[in-house]
Amino acid sequence: MTTARPLTEPAVLGRRFPPRFLWGTATAAYQIEGAWNEDGKGESIWDVFCRIPGVIEDGQSGEVACDHYHRVDEDLDLLASLGARAYRFSVAWPRVLPEGTGRANEQGLAFYDRLVDGLLERGIRPVVTLYHWDLPQALQERGGWLSEDVPGWFAEYAHLIASRIGDRVHDWVTLNEPQVTAFAGYQSGVHPPGVKDVATAVKVAHHLLLAHRAGAEALRAASPDAAVGIALNLSPAHPATDSPEDVAAARLADGVSNRWFLDPLFGRGYPQDVVERYGVIAPPPLDAYDGALDFLGINYYMRHVVKASAEAQLGYDVLPPSGALTEMGWEVYPDGLREILERAHRDYRPGAIYVTESGAAYPDEPDGEDTARVEYLHDHFSAAADAVEGGVPLQGYFVWSLLDNFEWHFGFTKRFGLAYVDYESQSRTLKASGRFYRSVTTAR
Ligand code: GCO
Repeated sequence: MTTARPLTEPAVLGRRFPPRFLWGTATAAYQIEGAWNEDGKGESIWDVFCRIPGVIEDGQSGEVACDHYHRVDEDLDLLASLGARAYRFSVAWPRVLPEGTGRANEQGLAFYDRLVDGLLERGIRPVVTLYHWDLPQALQERGGWLSEDVPGWFAEYAHLIASRIGDRVHDWVTLNEPQVTAFAGYQSGVHPPGVKDVATAVKVAHHLLLAHRAGAEALRAASPDAAVGIALNLSPAHPATDSPEDVAAARLADGVSNRWFLDPLFGRGYPQDVVERYGVIAPPPLDAYDGALDFLGINYYMRHVVKASAEAQLGYDVLPPSGALTEMGWEVYPDGLREILERAHRDYRPGAIYVTESGAAYPDEPDGEDTARVEYLHDHFSAAADAVEGGVPLQGYFVWSLLDNFEWHFGFTKRFGLAYVDYESQSRTLKASGRFYRSVTTAR
């Protein structure tokens, strides 16, 4: 493999991680499964959203996606060939509870049984995300995340899944990126239900935190040994200049996107500076709340460079990224991963931390020679190793993603996989980054 600059030998890099380090990859149900209406599955909010003309960049949907529902054995072989020791996947809520609550769909549950068994047969540890954005449409019609009933619905669903697969699954992620569910769904409106109202987004974020807690309790009730975590998208916020205004703006931006979830989850209530800024739209206090986390999952993709702005709604702007960018237009900033890991450890002391997602989109060709992603992974793995050597209790790292897949409102225009997917033939081809990953994970 040739890269623009010399890289640390993968084996040397791999040996910077502890022997039992949990190398994994991550996916999400709607992004890979397809089979949107098979075997009794109900509709999700994404099934419905994708039909709205113009909302998905290429006009596509996850109806077929990677057809993983029918290719699960092949995909698990691919995962095993990467030397992965863990796999983070999500359960599609409407596949197992077509109406969101009540009647369970046996065929849907059987699919996740098979998936878990297939992982265990290959010596791969399942890490199960309950909610990766595909709410049952039936629940959306009853108010969705805005309903006060949503913690109860989520707890019922969590209990059902843990009762079914909790004998074989130890590690659980309740919610993936509640910040995105709330703010992409209800402020920018680029995700379903496509609402554009910040006050509503703040209310939804509150319900997500309550649902997390109810779900965690339900998981533990059904499966007492469960290790429960949550996956937060965290981004260091850096001031654009040293001016006091920009420094204060970066602090507030950190509050809005990071501390808004971290503080309550670690029993501190909502951060006061952001509550004050939100004013009348601030939710009720969460003083007697904590997230009861066994581990913190961090999804890391970028930092934010922040500038004070009198015109902006919250008093700051996140500047357009510069320097090396991925195909998403996100700045390549590996040291932000070390920074956010060290900060989470220093400020919140979770019992364990996982990088539950990290990865990059590049305009890959079918030959799979994705040099830029090899460098990206190399640099992010190195940053994670720096954090481990600095004492962060980082226990695993899940690359986003195993396969190219349906990238939400970007449709299939962005490829994040360690394997290239030809969506016509559904063939999978390991990329150079997949071979690099294997050399790192198998270094010991
Ligand atoms: C997220 C989601 C993934 C995305 C990935 C790339 O973090 O946004 O968990 O579903 O596909 O992050 O954008």
